Amino acid sequence: MLSSRHARSPFRNGKSRLRPLAAALLACVAASAQVRSRAGNPVAASPEAIARGEKLYGSRCAVCHGRDGRGGEAPSLHKSRVVVLSPDRRFFEVVKSGIPGTEMPPLPGPDEPVWQIVAYVHSLAKPGMGPPVPGDAQAGREVFTRAGCVRCHIAEGKGGVTGPDLSSIAIQSSTAEIRESILDPNAKVPPTFREVSLRSRSGQTVKGMLKNDDNFSVQMMTLDGELRTFLRSEITGFQMERESLMPAGLGKGLTPEQLQNLLAFLDRQRAPFLKSQIGFQDY
Ligand code: HEC
Ligand code: HEC
Repeated sequence: MLSSRHARSPFRNGKSRLRPLAAALLACVAASAQVRSRAGNPVAASPEAIARGEKLYGSRCAVCHGRDGRGGEAPSLHKSRVVVLSPDRRFFEVVKSGIPGTEMPPLPGPDEPVWQIVAYVHSLAKPGMGPPVPGDAQAGREVFTRAGCVRCHIAEGKGGVTGPDLSSIAIQSSTAEIRESILDPNAKVPPTFREVSLRSRSGQTVKGMLKNDDNFSVQMMTLDGELRTFLRSEITGFQMERESLMPAGLGKGLTPEQLQNLLAFLDRQRAPFLKSQIGFQDY
């Protein structure tokens, strides 16, 4: 009597049916973990690994692929399918084995340094996939406001439009590139943010940024953020300024801690859609 009730107890029945299920589930989890470790980089999320990878990259790869990975004698790694689109394992194998018949040498020895290099190159070429940049993003937001960045840049939905929208900066540029933009604004100025001086036939000079230009007209945004169109026939010419509109002293005036916090704040800007990508008419 007792034993038959016991036998029908849902617990016992459940257990006997669940045991193989649980075992199958466990096997599944184990298998997928194995697949993951076979496909993915075991050190991908570690800032220490990336730092070690950076050193190794500098001594083993930079001569040919350039210090920033943008190419030199060898192709740019930022545009490489192997780096940007293939599974981590494929990139690992290319680095480990080299590419026979080309200048690309193998890197024999233990796997870990190779994974570290893979992690570092990914942090350059696939920004936004790496671990969060260390620093106090909250304090960085304050630096962004107090140093005046917000006058010219949009972040978190507010700011000026003299400089590029920074809402997605972390998925467009690596932290090293962002740091360079802040410390040395003249290093790289995108054409649509170049300052131009335009002279009209009536003798007027207008300063702003050249946003569009075709055979008939020139569109520029003045420094007040007003979009103006000039017919080619109305102007006598325009001159590109050499210096960036972004003041070079701003970044250099920050303490290392303020800069790090600012980089952490900018690293959190990962908006998937950017207004300016829809078109500058939107301004
Ligand atoms: C002596 C020069 C040299 C060195 C050092 C070197 N490479 Fe290369 N690498 C090349 C060349 C050249 C190619 C292009 C080979 C080809 O023609 O397919 C290449 C190709 C690659 C590719 C494939 C690119 C693609 O999409 O086809 C990757 C990834 C790569 N290298 C990564 C590295 C890494 C990481 C290191 C450092 C561990 C490194 N390389 C060191 C010369 C070099
Ligand atoms: C007077 C306007 C102005 C101020 C203030 C300013 N910037 Fe800029 N910034 C620009 C312009 C214009 C560009 C584009 C030209 C260039 O890259 O130098 C730019 C470019 C940048 C870029 C590169 C963006 C990209 O798409 O690659 C970053 C990052 C940046 N600024 C951050 C900052 C930070 C952080 C501050 C505050 C410390 C700041 N800016 C202050 C005008 C400004």
